[in-house]
Amino acid sequence: MANLVTNCGFSPSPAVKAHCNSPSYGHNFIRLQNSKSSTSSLNLKSSSKRSNKLYVTCASTSVQGQTQTPLTGSQQASGHSSSKPKKVMVIGGDGYCGWATALHLSNKGYEVAIVDNLVRRLFDHQLGLDSLTPIASIQNRIRRWKSLTGKTIQLFIGDICDFEFLSEAFKSFEPDSAVHFGEQRSAPFSMIDRSRAVYTQNNNVIGTLNVLFAMKEFSEECHLVKLGTMGEYGTPNIDIEEGFLTITHNGRTDTLPYPKQASSFYHLSKVHDSHNIAFTCKAWGIRATDLNQGVVYGIRTDETAMHEELSNRLDYDGIFGTALNRFCVQAAVGHPLTVYGKGGQTRGYLDIRDTVQCVELAIANPAKPGEFRVFNQFTEQFSVNELAKLVTAAGAKLGLDVQTKSVPNPRVEAEEHYYNAKHSKLSELGLVPHLLSDSLLDSLLNFAVQYKDRVDTAQIMPSVSWKKMGAKPKTISV
Ligand SMILES: NC(=O)c1ccc[n+]([C@@H]2O[C@H](COP(=O)([O-])OP(=O)(O)OC[C@H]3O[C@@H](n4cnc5c(N)ncnc54)[C@H](O)[C@@H]3O)[C@@H](O)[C@H]2O)c1
Repeated sequence: MANLVTNCGFSPSPAVKAHCNSPSYGHNFIRLQNSKSSTSSLNLKSSSKRSNKLYVTCASTSVQGQTQTPLTGSQQASGHSSSKPKKVMVIGGDGYCGWATALHLSNKGYEVAIVDNLVRRLFDHQLGLDSLTPIASIQNRIRRWKSLTGKTIQLFIGDICDFEFLSEAFKSFEPDSAVHFGEQRSAPFSMIDRSRAVYTQNNNVIGTLNVLFAMKEFSEECHLVKLGTMGEYGTPNIDIEEGFLTITHNGRTDTLPYPKQASSFYHLSKVHDSHNIAFTCKAWGIRATDLNQGVVYGIRTDETAMHEELSNRLDYDGIFGTALNRFCVQAAVGHPLTVYGKGGQTRGYLDIRDTVQCVELAIANPAKPGEFRVFNQFTEQFSVNELAKLVTAAGAKLGLDVQTKSVPNPRVEAEEHYYNAKHSKLSELGLVPHLLSDSLLDSLLNFAVQYKDRVDTAQIMPSVSWKKMGAKPKTISV
């Protein structure tokens, strides 16, 4: 694959060129579904709402000093202490994690609204990429869901960097929880060139800041569930704790935010998000859960498997594809598994069915007003070499001859290192993990084989170098 450098830069919208203005996706928001309450009739929430949240004191689980009985999603969705279903705004609900989560929560009885500017689909057009699986438009996805289940998902199309749009969405929907997946989430994308680095940090940091302001202004009781990443911590030579580290220094002891050593402009945007969220919890009493998620794999959830129009996206390319999903697609098309460098890079991983479960648990057991919680959201650790071995063995059982090749590492990262990250808080709330098993690998590989004719093998090799990135706009092409 060649990188063609052209003079056409990345521009999801004209506003991005102005760097710190909102990269608005062109139009203000569109609602697919008529809301029961009109925007104009809505008021700021009163603090009396606070009493609707249920905290049970005779409890079994301690979350950051708070004693609670973990609630299941359905208990929370049904209101538990009131008859109205709980409302969840899923920001980024057209994306890989967000779509699966929106359907899962809707299925569990939550009233769901998706907020998305569809920019992820635009990235594919601009970079010449595509999901392994064909994906229906968001409108058709939601219509199909309604026709199969009778359940309505509201849709707000717009950019959360556009505060006016976001304010209207908050005032109209009045969420009890906002799950925020709506960011540019690829490290390689953020390292293509200067314009993508600036776009990523602008989109992610300003978008999250707008969500925090919208919560303060229009939904002060709303619980923010924000998707962070385990990549914020980097790979320190000590155990990684869940968000906080107790340190004794010169005879004094304090519990401080765990040091962050992010290794791309994308990961750095997440670090800044975390700081902004922690600050607003303290300053404004925002309630927030930062989910430091590991690498997600898999495609099917109970809901997305219900119809092909509900199918989720699966990225296998060198920019948006993530390790295990990529390896399964590479194995299916007979491409050697692309291990970067020595392959000792170890990270936390989780099945997409656990992503939706973790988010549901976080929503059902919300942070207290003013509380900034951090959960490490993954279920198992693997090195890249271990994943390659697992996929090779699973491929052999399906008659696939899977080879592995070490390719020069395009990233700047340790290729052999200590890694031991804690991840007990979601288990304490009731997470029952789907561990990576032969059967999951078989089904993922079979899925990849089913769609292998859609694979563009030219997109498989990494095309973005951490060291070679520059200010010149770059067009990735074949
Ligand atoms: N996929 C993973 O393995 C993984 C791992 C760790 C953390 N995460 C985090 O989870 C979240 C979701 O990841 P994903 O894989 O589903 O990503 P994705 O790119 O598939 O989905 C993100 C969605 O957000 C939307 N979006 C982006 N910017 C927006 C904006 N300004 N306004 C409105 N919508 C916007 C996109 O259009 C897209 O639909 C991200 O924050 C990511 O950092 C993902």
